[in-house]
Amino acid sequence: MALHTAVRLLLLTVLAGACARGAAAGNPGDPPAAAAGKATEEAERIYMLRCLPCHGPKGRGDGPTARTLAPRPRDFQDHEWQESVTDTHIEKIIVGGGIAVGKSAGMPPNPDLRTRPEVVTALRRKVRGFGKAEKEKEKEKERD
Ligand code: HEC
Repeated sequence: MALHTAVRLLLLTVLAGACARGAAAGNPGDPPAAAAGKATEEAERIYMLRCLPCHGPKGRGDGPTARTLAPRPRDFQDHEWQESVTDTHIEKIIVGGGIAVGKSAGMPPNPDLRTRPEVVTALRRKVRGFGKAEKEKEKEKERD
């Protein structure tokens, strides 16, 4: 009985490991949506750990360490800014930091993401998402 349980546990562990590996590598057989989902999850995790301290939970540039920065990070919910920058600009600054785009070195580079373009894309989408949230809010205001 105990042995049976142990064998099942072992099998489960091996299977879970295989799944995790497949997902991380992006199995060629995986539907693209599944791979994108993984990248989005990873981007959320990275945002919480690396970006939120400066950019804030809602991208407003009001994270706990933001006040020590000069210039301060901008408000990602700002429409005009969203419209003024390209996706390439956002992705470039995420990977190369402020200096890669002629901005402040206060925005640090993330060189480990250079080989993970799908995560960079997902982070860019997250940054864009803050702008969309604002648009939705404006629409709601118009409806009221
Ligand atoms: C140590 C603080 C800090 C961290 C951590 C940080 N940023 Fe920044 N970020 C800044 C500052 C400061 C600027 C403004 C630079 C400027 O205007 O010269 C900036 C600018 C940006 C911009 C461009 C805004 C523009 O004006 O074009 C984007 C996009 C961005 N950050 C995304 C991110 C993402 C995504 C992460 C996490 C992977 C991150 N940042 C982590 C401080 C930080």
